[in-house]
Amino acid sequence: MTDSLEKIASEIATCTKCPLHLSREKAVPGEGPPDAEIMFIGEGPGFHENQSGRPFVGAAGKFLDELLASIGLRREDVFITNVVKCRPPGNRDPQPDEIAACREYLDRQIAVIDPKVIVTLGRFSMARWFPSARISRIHGQPRRAGRRLIVPMYHPAAALHQPKLRQTVLDDFRRLPEFVSQANDAYQEGEAGEEPPPDEPRQLPLF
Ligand code: URA
Ligand code: SF4
Repeated sequence: MTDSLEKIASEIATCTKCPLHLSREKAVPGEGPPDAEIMFIGEGPGFHENQSGRPFVGAAGKFLDELLASIGLRREDVFITNVVKCRPPGNRDPQPDEIAACREYLDRQIAVIDPKVIVTLGRFSMARWFPSARISRIHGQPRRAGRRLIVPMYHPAAALHQPKLRQTVLDDFRRLPEFVSQANDAYQEGEAGEEPPPDEPRQLPLF
């Protein structure tokens, strides 16, 4: 049977593969069209997401909406999800074993959507492709992964906590349309959109 976003979401809703299921109110699979060209991957649901079952609906989500609007996009145009689909208690960092347990769902979402550009928001999603990179060095710089472009960006919540980062995030977002058209060229070359091999879960540098 072919995989679908609905099938993945229904499995996530009843998933017990990691301890985060114990404290969740609602799992948050992510949302957006199955043919989205751009996929955003955050960290994990927070308080409001856990209540509503929808990604990025709290303060960071409002800022993400603004960032999307700044380049003429609406939330309905893109797919938005997280590395873990259930809220880490008290919004603590997701642990390597939790990220590893949840990875299957993210892999399947990427396979179904086959996005041209993946924007990682924050260091946990960045680490999937760039395990030892520092976000302060590589933010806003697209890298190829197969025929896809991966664009690491700061998490919108980081910009809310550190006002200096706000303009940095706006500037990185402003170049996204350019990256999408670059990605289109690579995509049309028809290279396989393969993913790099999974990395061992590991602790991440802070900056
Ligand atoms: N922060 C995230 O990383 N993801 C959400 O869905 C909300 C806030
Ligand atoms: Fe399952 Fe992911 Fe939720 Fe853990 S975080 S229970 S692996 S859906």
